[in-house]
Amino acid sequence: MPDAYILGIESSCDETAAAVVRSGEQLISNVVASQIATHQPYGGVVPELASREHLRAIVPVVRQALAEARHTYESVDAIAVTQGPGLAGALLVGISYAKALAFALDKPLIAVNHLEGHIHAVLLEERQKGNHDLRFPVLALVVSGGHTHLYLAAEKDGAWTYENIGHTRDDAAGEAFDKVAKLLGLGYPGGPVVDRLATHGDAKAVKFAPAQIKHPDRRGRNDGRGVPVGSDRPRFDFSYSGIKTAILRYVESHHLQPAVEARRRALVAIAKPKLEDYLANCDQLTLDLVASFQRAIVNDLVTRTLAAAEEYNVATIFVTGGVAANHELRQTFERKAAEQGRPVYFPSRPLSTDNAAMIAAAAYPKFLEKDFAALDFSAEAGMLLR
Ligand code: KG4
Ligand code: ZN
Repeated sequence: MPDAYILGIESSCDETAAAVVRSGEQLISNVVASQIATHQPYGGVVPELASREHLRAIVPVVRQALAEARHTYESVDAIAVTQGPGLAGALLVGISYAKALAFALDKPLIAVNHLEGHIHAVLLEERQKGNHDLRFPVLALVVSGGHTHLYLAAEKDGAWTYENIGHTRDDAAGEAFDKVAKLLGLGYPGGPVVDRLATHGDAKAVKFAPAQIKHPDRRGRNDGRGVPVGSDRPRFDFSYSGIKTAILRYVESHHLQPAVEARRRALVAIAKPKLEDYLANCDQLTLDLVASFQRAIVNDLVTRTLAAAEEYNVATIFVTGGVAANHELRQTFERKAAEQGRPVYFPSRPLSTDNAAMIAAAAYPKFLEKDFAALDFSAEAGMLLR
């Protein structure tokens, strides 16, 4: 099979990214322009600003990815782009540019689901390490700012299919990290800050009741967005809005608001706060709260995922998406999955968070199948993965 060099483009949320990947197994270049500085003052992603920043960054980012790969627009074999899920305006920037390139260059265009991209980040790196004998069934936990999904992933004759067996009923895990960091005055995005501060607190200090999901999904058996799905197979849903409310109550009952406000003001005044800056502005009570929060989320993600792994008797576990960068999550998964005798694979940290290498990697099986997108396809903000 001849090599295929695919240019991937990703603009679904707050990162403009482009990458060149050879045949889904070798990362040739990977460029990510983060918009964190733009959104930071608002404590979260502002969709209009995201679109504007993507417009500004898309051409230089693609040029840089090609240059670093020693490729040209003409020398790549196909162009892959994220179709959804994500912010509609942000997705449209990447899609419009990818379409224009594909049309002008007369190259195949491949539309990729962002969540499938996260799963293929793991595959790309395992292949790159020489691990070609992946054992099925695979259970993939996609855990990011917008999603907490469990998929059974299968490959048949080169084509991948996915069955959703769990999703969050309310907040995604990454969203909980972001919201809790915001309400503790730690800024945006919350995950990386909480990750670093958690080792300085006592994770047993504050107890949170584990999320109880007793009632069946009120929206019926669906994919999380109200679209019915057929199967009656066991489900493993998540819920993270309760813990966020518990933290809010804790802040109120311990009269922490003045300290939170002082911390927020102090950190906003520092252009790029370092660990010492965060520590200098956090008392032990807050560090204990942060550590206990992270422990609760990590234990919940690991327990539910491993219960699903047991139920479906999977051979391999993938953990991917922005929250997969979390140190405690990785360590806990590794320890507990080993007890079950199941291998667990993560992407490297740079490929856990949003990037375009994962989009180019997920596009490769579609390239082989000639599963190309028509030039009139559009963004799908609520796109499902099947
Ligand atoms: O996959 P991603 O880059 O974008 C989405 O598709 O949403 O994930 C971003 C999310 C954010 O919520 C961020 O706080 C979280 O991933 N995150 C982390 C860490 N790094 C990023 N959460 C916990 N620990 C981390 N080290
Ligand atoms: Zn993502």
